[in-house]
This record gives sequence, C-alpha cells and structure tokens, in this order.
Amino acid sequence: MAIISDDENFSKKVKKNVLVKPEVNEYDKTFENNIRPKSFDSYIGQTNLKETLKISIEAAKKRETPLDHILFYGPPGLGKTTLAGVIAQETGVSIKITSAPSLERPRDIIGILMSLKAGEILFIDEIHRLNKLAEEILYSAMEDFCLDMTTGKSQSVKTMRVPLVKFTMIGATTKAGDLSSPLRDRFGLIHRLEFYTKEELIQVVKRTASILNIKITDDGAAEIASRSRGTPRIANRLVKRVGDFAIVKFDGVITEEVAKKSLETLDIDNMGLNSTDRTLLRLIIEKYDGGPVGIETLSAALGEDIKTLEDVCEPYLLQTGFLQRTPRGRKVSPEAMRYLGYKPLGASQQTLF
Ligand code: ADE
Repeated sequence: MAIISDDENFSKKVKKNVLVKPEVNEYDKTFENNIRPKSFDSYIGQTNLKETLKISIEAAKKRETPLDHILFYGPPGLGKTTLAGVIAQETGVSIKITSAPSLERPRDIIGILMSLKAGEILFIDEIHRLNKLAEEILYSAMEDFCLDMTTGKSQSVKTMRVPLVKFTMIGATTKAGDLSSPLRDRFGLIHRLEFYTKEELIQVVKRTASILNIKITDDGAAEIASRSRGTPRIANRLVKRVGDFAIVKFDGVITEEVAKKSLETLDIDNMGLNSTDRTLLRLIIEKYDGGPVGIETLSAALGEDIKTLEDVCEPYLLQTGFLQRTPRGRKVSPEAMRYLGYKPLGASQQTLF
C-alpha cells in the first residue's frame, strides 16, 4: 500500500539526513509546487530583492520591453526557482524551467530557445554547470536575441543569424564564482539570496501549516523556524514531518513540546544541525586540533563528497560562525567548541594562520 512505502521512504530519508539537506529532491518538487507562493505578497523575506524586482518589472511594463536577464545566486533552498515563478506571474508571462545538466547537446539549448514565445521567461537552474558550447550559444541569444549558426565545413563554412523572439533569461546558481565573466556580464540584474531570519521563517512555517491544514501554535512555529537553518525549503519539510508526529503521537497540534520531541527524534538539534554537521565539526576539533584542515581531507575522512560539504553543510556553518574558511583550510570557532561541549582552545592556539 502507498502509505507503507511512503513510510519506508521516510525512514530511509531520516537515516540519510535528507530532511535537513537543502538540495531539492523529487519528493520536494511536487510538495513545493503545491505550497509555492505565486505573488510578491505571499513570498516572504528577501525584502530588498523584492523591491528591486518590483521596480524593474514596472519599468519593463512601462517601456513595453521584456525584463532584463536576471541572475540569482546563493545557497540552495532559499527560493530562487520560486522567485522566478513569482516574477513570471507578476509580469503576466509564462515560464519554461530547465537546468544546465539537461542542456548537454547544442540542440537541447537551441530547441528550447526556438520554442520560446515573445516575452517568455527561460529559467536555467545550476547555470554554472552549462558546458562551453551551450554557453556560447547563449551569448548571442541573450545579447542580440539571435542564434549564430554555422553550416558547411572548413573553406565552405557559412555563418547564419537566426532571429529569436525577445525573452528574459533567469539563471540560478549556488556558485556565482564558477560562472565565466562573458556569461555573467550578460545579466542586467545580479542578486544574492540571503538566509532567512527566524521571524521570516516563522511566517513561512505558519503559511505552510495553514495550506496543509496543520494546526500549530506560535511557540511550535518558532521552534521549527529556529531549527530550519535559515532555509524555507527545510522549514517546509519540517512542518510536514512534525505535523505527521503531531497526528500520530500527539493530539494533532504542533506545540513547542511536540516540535521539540519530534525534531529530537529526527536528530535535528537546537540550531538545526544534523549528525553530518556535528561529525564534521567534531572531526576538526578532535583529529585536527580545531583546524585548519583541507576540505579534501575532511571529505575523505567523512566519506561525503566535497560538493555536498561545500554546497550543503558549509554555507550554514559559515553563516552561524561555527566554521571559518582560511587560506590553509577549515577551522572551527570557539563558539562551535562551546556549543558542542568542548573547552575552547587557548588564545595562542586560536590564531587563524
Ligand atoms: N516557501 C518557500 N519559500 C517561501 C517564501 N519565500 N515565502 C513563502 N513561502 C515559501
């Protein structure tokens, strides 16, 4: 029965700490689509960015031109795709969503560009993973709204310019530094998405609980918010999971006590750290005297790939100040040592280099 297999999947996810990994997975895609805000009014947080976007949208409408190309960057789970959908809705145009790894062959990107309707938004996720050929095709498409195609071989080679409709490209990346400058320079707006404050996450939690018909108290929402690593995707998942606990083990309402007990069972601590985060910090403290230690060494010792450590664990640990990046590697802070119950190192041992 469906419910049983769902439970099995759930316990597998819990074991792998999937709940607090901000990367999107197949399960999230359906779930997120159901609760995604569709307008600026229902999109919580990123206040400055929303104001800038509202002005750009209004100006584009007045000029009767498509919106400039936009690049969003920042850690996963902060709402880059959601925001692209909001922009489409607020501008009154449709959106085609794809991601760089599915644009492997030139004909993939050419096909999608030629299928665009005038003014439509093309959203490319993980844009830092575009290959060189696809990137070069995008240069003239973004700048001049045309495709530069070559036909024939060696001496008889001919270049053709194929016109495209005017469109808006929205790119999203967790690694803005990995984008080549010719590609980066073709975006008119470049914005970083910030981690959410606890107050913003409380609003996200309450909104999601209300859509899912889950009863929640103010304290219950605050407890989930403070363990969501500044990330709405994680907050939304936790609402669902804690809501399940509330129904099965309690009286159906997420209170502070219900949230605390459920999150303890899910091995998510007061600050939203999971066992991988804690193991990473403890490893640096116990085996490398608090660091610095290279990411390759940590990856090998933990059996986690570098990308997961860099994109998933580190952004939040850096944000909390528990982890520091130095030219010689990663180092834990005295706050992290205290938080994990260690005595901070003496001042002479705390120098960064
Ligand atoms: N769900 C995910 N991100 C959100 C946001 N920024 N506002 C409201 N709900 C969300």
